[in-house]
Amino acid sequence: MKILVLNGSPRPKGNTAGMVAAFRETAEQHGHLVRVFNVCRMNIKGCLACERCHGKGEGKCAQRDDMDTIYAELKDTEMLVLAAPIYYHGISGQLKCAIDRFYSALYPAAPPSLKKAAMFLSSGDPDMYVGARFSFEGDFLGYLGLEDKGLYTNHDRNVMEKIREMAATLSCPPRP
Ligand SMILES: Cc1cc2nc3c(=O)[nH]c(=O)nc-3n(C[C@H](O)[C@H](O)[C@H](O)COP(=O)(O)O)c2cc1C
Repeated sequence: MKILVLNGSPRPKGNTAGMVAAFRETAEQHGHLVRVFNVCRMNIKGCLACERCHGKGEGKCAQRDDMDTIYAELKDTEMLVLAAPIYYHGISGQLKCAIDRFYSALYPAAPPSLKKAAMFLSSGDPDMYVGARFSFEGDFLGYLGLEDKGLYTNHDRNVMEKIREMAATLSCPPRP
């Protein structure tokens, strides 16, 4: 299965990076193709709400920046993993910019290949996940209808083991 991970933490050795690394290692061991994008090191601007993508642009965003690389990946991605620290009760601004830019590529419908989603979150305090969970469940599971592969946080007991277990039991057949 082809998996796209967007990591919205600027800290290369932070909690989010640790969860992403555990997921990637186990998923790759099970034959999946995992591509990780560290969006904090990319040039990804916020959505301009110009609506060109839903009109003349026919699904193509009017802006040209590093989001183009992610758009290209999204076309045949089968699973999306959104990973971020919590900043002021929501996901980091860097990941939010990337998600807002999904407007041209995922809304009103996701590419047919995209079937599953998971979210990894990290925060200083526990119970800081209401905003991020609302977006994950409302936008990605509800609106887009993706299969829920779970929401994992650094405050969950044995979170690394749980992430590895999920990565080891992804049901799509591995790519040849
Ligand atoms: C700008 C900023 C805002 C933050 N806001 C919150 C917050 O609202 N609630 C919280 O529990 N932690 C907050 N934190 C702490 C981070 O969420 C926490 O340190 C997290 O584990 C960092 O993840 P990382 O190691 O993957 O970068 C904030 C940190 C920063 C830098």
